[in-house]
Amino acid sequence: MCGIVGIVGKAPVAERLVDALRRLEYRGYDSAGVATIHDGVMERRRAEGKLFNLEKKLSVERLPGEIGIAHTRWATHGVPNETNAHPHFVEGVAVVHNGIIENFSELRDELLAEGAVFQSQTDTEVVAHLLARYTREGLDHRAAMLAMLNRVSGAYALVVMFADDPQTILCARFGPPLAIGHGKDEMFLGSDAIALAPFTNRITYLVDGDCAVMTARGVSITDYAGKPVSRPMQISQSAALMVDKGNHRHFMEKEIYEQPEIISHALSHYVDFAGGTVKTQGAAIDFAKVRSLAVSACGTAYLAGLIGKYWFERYARLPVEIDVASEFRYREMPLSSDQAALFISQSGETADTLASLRYCKEAGLAIGAIVNVRESTIAREADAVFPILAGPEIGVASTKAFTCQLAVLASLAIQAGRARGTLSEADEKALVRHLIEMPRVMSRVLNLVQPQMESLSRDLSRFKDVLYLGRGTSYPLALEGALKLKEISYIHAEGYAAGELKHGPIALIDENMPVIVIAPHDRFFEKTVSNMQEVAARGGKIIFITDEKGAAASKLPTMATIVLPVVDEVISPMIFALPIQLLAYHTAVFMGTDVDQPRNLAKSVTVE
Ligand code: G6P
Repeated sequence: MCGIVGIVGKAPVAERLVDALRRLEYRGYDSAGVATIHDGVMERRRAEGKLFNLEKKLSVERLPGEIGIAHTRWATHGVPNETNAHPHFVEGVAVVHNGIIENFSELRDELLAEGAVFQSQTDTEVVAHLLARYTREGLDHRAAMLAMLNRVSGAYALVVMFADDPQTILCARFGPPLAIGHGKDEMFLGSDAIALAPFTNRITYLVDGDCAVMTARGVSITDYAGKPVSRPMQISQSAALMVDKGNHRHFMEKEIYEQPEIISHALSHYVDFAGGTVKTQGAAIDFAKVRSLAVSACGTAYLAGLIGKYWFERYARLPVEIDVASEFRYREMPLSSDQAALFISQSGETADTLASLRYCKEAGLAIGAIVNVRESTIAREADAVFPILAGPEIGVASTKAFTCQLAVLASLAIQAGRARGTLSEADEKALVRHLIEMPRVMSRVLNLVQPQMESLSRDLSRFKDVLYLGRGTSYPLALEGALKLKEISYIHAEGYAAGELKHGPIALIDENMPVIVIAPHDRFFEKTVSNMQEVAARGGKIIFITDEKGAAASKLPTMATIVLPVVDEVISPMIFALPIQLLAYHTAVFMGTDVDQPRNLAKSVTVE
């Protein structure tokens, strides 16, 4: 992910900005840049590759100035070269950006028609052009910023300087984080508090939809309509830690909330945002030729694989055999070398998954590994590695790794569909467009459902048993919902395919067992509602997680209805994962359990 820093103060900033960027290196990047204003002149230095290259440039061509912004870029739109590196300059406006501007090609066409000349292939440059245009039209800087923010859609952190105002940095957040640091007669901003740790530990975190104007004396924050909002200042502990909780109580909460940003980072590896296509990955697996896929994993990674099965079969007509690794490795499954095998593991070290991999390798299958830790054993022993790029996941209960595994599986299923001729170019474009929407929709959903999940968790904590139901890809999600809840709240929870209700679990239904139904308004909706009807008829309490269409279509009484925006089927598992994660999280917090390190569980299971 890109990293952002900014300083407005009383001493030269260039070197300090590069130092702060170094503390963001862990996020990954492929070019870097810095801009300052000095004596009314705004200048920048940019370099491809590591920070060392930028430093070399700065040692030859120094950048004086007591105000500046800087950036490490993880390429999304356009190759990682100096021209595409940030900051982007247009007519006295400098912009750095982390995230995705979804409607950039529309905006670019509009600006091109007005005569704008683009220098880079980035989506970011439209922001600089829009700001230049609004400034030309006579808006002051804050008003230009708000006008721009009301035109762009996507998930982003944006930081802006104007050459004619060497006192002020403006920034906004919708999705990726931004932390404001309060110094003495100096102010700072960064992608996280770790970047700012050498300067200050007094931090104000922006929330989605905030626009901030920062001078050396302080910061004023408004919403996008210009209405002032107030955000607390807090003392950060990050000086002592390399991985920090930010303004969250637990790592799990932080990891839930970083999903919009992390997902765009992961997607940028698998999707060409500008072209609207998937990037072909993993040459060792020839999806066009393989007869079937064998998938194996444990825990949450297994449930991601189960959702992947629906996608590979639907989009690529590729049959998938999937099993938990502890069964897969011993069940003596007949294998042949015209199959390929996929192993999914956050840690890349899970003993059963590794043993399954070795079993398939021996049978001569091409081996793919979907992992978070690229140096792990599973990654090293695979023929093709598909990184999920989720960053360190500290909470034992997996959240962001799950949605990133799904993003990778969806991209691979589309790639396989194209390779096998079961998806047309137009199908691919349509599916990729939905993937690109995901970070924005995730930000919106997290903000939307948080208060409701918090209050619902109090009701849920009174129960001893909970049933989760779903159909289609919502079935594995129901399993994941139940797993998450039992792992951290210790409430007994079970997930079931909604259609299986009648074959057993219906016997348990009474007013003491809430039934959580995951049902977006998809192909299966009507059928799932019939199952809900069966629950209602037996006095069961229903918690209905649906979308706007689903909520309008069902009139059944519920204990709670959680209404999400309508999204395409290809992204609904990632979107519907958010309320179930939040529900488990808040229930555990309310019950006072050790959320990040639940009893008896381990993050990495290297024994059988
Ligand atoms: C443990 C963890 C889970 C994880 C599973 C598989 O049970 O607590 O969160 O899903 O192992 O781990 P892996 O690293 O292979 O994804």
